[in-house]
Amino acid sequence: MPTQSKSDKSEPTKSEPAIWLRKDLLDTADLNLADFNLIFETTDAMIEVRERPIARTTTLRGTTLATLFYENSTRTRASFEIAGKALGADVVNLSASQSSVGKGESLIDTVRTLEAIGADILVLRHPLSGASTLASKYTNASVINAGDGMHAHPTQALLDLFTIKQHLGELSGRKIVIVGDILHSRVARSNIWALLTLGAQITLCGPATLLPKYFTQHKSDLQNVTVTTNLKTALSNADVVMTLRLQKERQRNSIIPSLSEYIRNYQINNDTIALAKSTAIVMHPGPVNAGFEISQEVAEGKQSVISAQVTNGVAIRMALLYLFATRTTDFPA
Ligand code: CP
Repeated sequence: MPTQSKSDKSEPTKSEPAIWLRKDLLDTADLNLADFNLIFETTDAMIEVRERPIARTTTLRGTTLATLFYENSTRTRASFEIAGKALGADVVNLSASQSSVGKGESLIDTVRTLEAIGADILVLRHPLSGASTLASKYTNASVINAGDGMHAHPTQALLDLFTIKQHLGELSGRKIVIVGDILHSRVARSNIWALLTLGAQITLCGPATLLPKYFTQHKSDLQNVTVTTNLKTALSNADVVMTLRLQKERQRNSIIPSLSEYIRNYQINNDTIALAKSTAIVMHPGPVNAGFEISQEVAEGKQSVISAQVTNGVAIRMALLYLFATRTTDFPA
């Protein structure tokens, strides 16, 4: 596969041709409109590959994908493995509990070791914000951030946006409401930066203790972001309702008065979803805690696109692996 120096700071601009020049994917905040369009066009091509009778290509034969997960995962890890294998890559899966991390090996040494044994692309999930950025500085392999602490989860945001486009068309001007534990959510943060680049109107809603101060304090810089604690106000005229679980693993203190009060004020259920547009779609990045942030009926109801999000996760990750591994060659034949 083509190599690129780890010090390469190439930043495509809107006027440049749509080719992938980036070494790493650390957050959606680093991407411009041309990047999003290229990723989504490539994802369309990957969906076509997935729909073939034999849903595989050998395009990435000779490329090695290593997944390194220091936190649990079902969707992200499985879909990267399926994506890599569907494109013919060699896939190595490591979790912190199975690797020499358990013997005290540092993240940097682990990343260097994976590069030394041939990893071209490294997919990293880590509980600490900034871990992927750190790793990317110590390897020539491309690093894809699969979630770092409360910071970012760019591939989740990309599959979320792709799913919205699939169901509602262009994002510009659409009202996207994100409800719940936004403070601790890397998914929310990566979605916000991506949605802003694509011209959406964003409303953040939750108890005051779960809303990041950044978005209330930078109102003049972020005119397309509205913050409210009132779910009724938030859901009015919404095109998309994205609900988030309470991320107890990242909450240092008890920051809601009671779960029952949270459910009463912020659960997306048949009564509250009726406040949004009748055409609104309901999203959730997973894992879903049905009965808490969302009712079972709505999670499985006709407005829910949660299964489509998971399915699109494979094609988005195929697209990213393809772009990183080939950079400028044509779509798979
Ligand atoms: N949305 C998400 O990241 O799910 P997993 O933790 O199962 O990968």
